[in-house]
Amino acid sequence: MHRIVAIDRRVPETPSTVTWRFRDPTPAAPGQFVMVWVPGDDELPMSLSYTDGETKGVTVKAMGATSRRIQEIPPGTRIGIRGPYGNRFALTPRRLLIVGGGSGTAVLAPGAEALRRDGAEVVGALGATTAAEMLFAERLRSAGARIELATDDGSLGHAGYVTEVADRLLGEPGRFDAVWTCGPEVMMRKVALAARARGVPAFGSVERQMKCALGMCDACALGPYHVCVDGPVFPAETLLGLSEFGRSKRDPSGRLVPV
Ligand SMILES: Cc1cc2nc3c(=O)[nH]c(=O)nc-3n(C[C@H](O)[C@H](O)[C@H](O)COP(=O)(O)OP(=O)(O)OC[C@H]3O[C@@H](n4cnc5c(N)ncnc54)[C@H](O)[C@@H]3O)c2cc1C
Ligand code: FES
Repeated sequence: MHRIVAIDRRVPETPSTVTWRFRDPTPAAPGQFVMVWVPGDDELPMSLSYTDGETKGVTVKAMGATSRRIQEIPPGTRIGIRGPYGNRFALTPRRLLIVGGGSGTAVLAPGAEALRRDGAEVVGALGATTAAEMLFAERLRSAGARIELATDDGSLGHAGYVTEVADRLLGEPGRFDAVWTCGPEVMMRKVALAARARGVPAFGSVERQMKCALGMCDACALGPYHVCVDGPVFPAETLLGLSEFGRSKRDPSGRLVPV
């Protein structure tokens, strides 16, 4: 169902990411996404970085031309929303490891908060290119999660890939009963393989081009799946079985390009 909402707050999170908060009473669950349309511009899929109550949120990263442009829109702007769409993270783990790369942490945060409220243990391995780009570390710490950080340039936490931190944490036998991950696919692939090696079930949220978000147009095809209805959250074992995962995806013109 389409609806128009006004952006109540525009919160700069890092130099490249901004969160929009808007009032929308439509129920949503962690992992789901909405199609966001800025009048006069394109419609883009965005995961909900806040899913509770009546005030939802999306966290927009400046990537290409459209996301750079729409990031700048001021509070009070009315935007079109449809959804939420897609499946969700099952809120069943009691000892969860989240592995977020860059803006991917926005997808993991609402579910991690929900599990903390329910008394589950949540450990986060969060990665960013540099300290200033670290997203939602304080938000997750405030929720009671134990957070370890990694930066590519060594300006905060472990100097190197977040997958190295995740690998170390997964090496503690029996420590986790599930892993959730979102970020660059190359990173998610490494997390999926590390979780498989330790026998821990893992789930990853993936992005593809989207048009209808209803399972009808094929824009979001990933192997035999439609990411918009079968995902965006998939068991890591499913993703590891797909030749495209972590290797290629379609660009807006439909061309297969490396991820
Ligand atoms: C399920 C899902 C959740 C997502 N969640 C987030 C999020 O929380 N935060 C975030 O910053 N980004 C998210 N994205 C990515 C986002 O939708 C865009 O792909 C990204 O912002 C780049 O768009 P662009 O227009 O800046 O890129 P460009 O490379 O400039 O895009 C070129 C053209 O393609 C269109 N386009 C780009 N990406 C898509 C797409 N995925 N589907 C349809 N058309 C597209 C653009 O509108 C433009 O017309 C998500 C994507 C998916 C599939
Ligand atoms: S976006 Fe149309 S089938 Fe998924």
